[in-house]
Amino acid sequence: MNETILVTGGAGFIGSNFICHWLEKVPSDIVNLDKLTYAGNAGNLRSLQSDSRYVFVKGDICDAALVRSILDKYKPTSIVHLAAETHVDRSICTPAEFIRTNVYGTFILLEEARNYWGDLDDSEKALFRFLHVSTDEVYGSLGPQESAFTEMTPYRPNSPYAASKAGSDHLARSYYHTYGLPVIITNCSNNYGPFQFPEKLIPLTILNALSGQPLPVYGDGQNVRDWLYVEDHCDALRRTLERGKPGQTYNIGGSSERKNIDVVKTTCDLIDELRPNTTLGSCWKQVKYVKDRPGHDRRYAIDSSKILQELGWQPKEPFEMGMRKTVKWYLSNMNWVAEIRSGEYYEWIRQNYGGR
Ligand code: NAD
Ligand code: TYD
Repeated sequence: MNETILVTGGAGFIGSNFICHWLEKVPSDIVNLDKLTYAGNAGNLRSLQSDSRYVFVKGDICDAALVRSILDKYKPTSIVHLAAETHVDRSICTPAEFIRTNVYGTFILLEEARNYWGDLDDSEKALFRFLHVSTDEVYGSLGPQESAFTEMTPYRPNSPYAASKAGSDHLARSYYHTYGLPVIITNCSNNYGPFQFPEKLIPLTILNALSGQPLPVYGDGQNVRDWLYVEDHCDALRRTLERGKPGQTYNIGGSSERKNIDVVKTTCDLIDELRPNTTLGSCWKQVKYVKDRPGHDRRYAIDSSKILQELGWQPKEPFEMGMRKTVKWYLSNMNWVAEIRSGEYYEWIRQNYGGR
């Protein structure tokens, strides 16, 4: 019989990529618990519709009774916890949902996992893992010359999103130290790739460029992020689940620091090449510097040497190649884009960037 893993937030960007990656590499079953917020789309996993190894449960991680019933019914050997509210700008406008899902929801999941794990027999207990997927944003902002974040960097979250993820990381850590629950935490840098919701920089830029809309660049465009292709992140999560040590944290990064304005330039160059607009000319002309994000972190950079040394993982996809794949994916999947752009999506664009 196959082992089963429970994935939360598997209908989101990283979750749907992770589920496909896992099922391709590992003979196991997956239960995906997802609330299907605006950022979740069950259609991301349409390719698994008739795959008997995959079960989808629509529901909220804050619902303790539901989580308990899933654990009792499917008896997972591990939990991969990705469900979260994830967009920094939304966390600035409406932080409450971030505290509810990211902090309280993680607490419920840990609490139910602890009870479930406590009842397993010793050999099952030893194999069980709770993989808590987090972000580099918990470490705060770096100056231009400062060394990249290591697992020892103190937490200094600056946005309600980062603070809520930091809170969840602390809870996850405490469940290992207090109760012995085999928790592993990963802190990853900015991901990009297929299925990313077009409120984040790269897909927003691609789609606005294609539709002749302004390309909003916050502040002076000099903020730096360390970009990782999502498939590389999925590979790191799989290795961590298979070989990581309980109680440990692993930083995961792309070793691809880029200024935002350079990311926008790369995106524009690819669109000009792959889908040139003969009427408007280069989409680079659509760049529009807009008001900065409040508390905007200047720079993130990840030192991934621990996961390389201990688990043999390093990113494979160079940024320019990953970007080419990503732009091509969006160009070939405009049906997906139309599907996820609900009324709620347009309401967010209107609120955040003004009356479009
Ligand atoms: P996403 O916003 O694309 O997806 C989040 C998913 O969680 C959605 O499917 C949503 O429906 C679901 N969800 C939200 N609230 C829920 C709830 N209460 N109960 C059940 N499901 C709920 O996010 P993502 O970019 O795929 O990120 C996944 C995880 O990885 C998050 O924990 C995030 O903090 C972390 N992370 C993301 C990045 C990144 O660059 N995207 C980088 C590092 C870490
Ligand atoms: P984002 O994709 O929202 O990820 P995060 O805030 O989690 O890093 O933003 C990436 C960077 O791009 C960040 O520095 C903010 C900036 N940005 C813009 O300049 N314009 C935009 O329209 C968006 C969404 C982000």
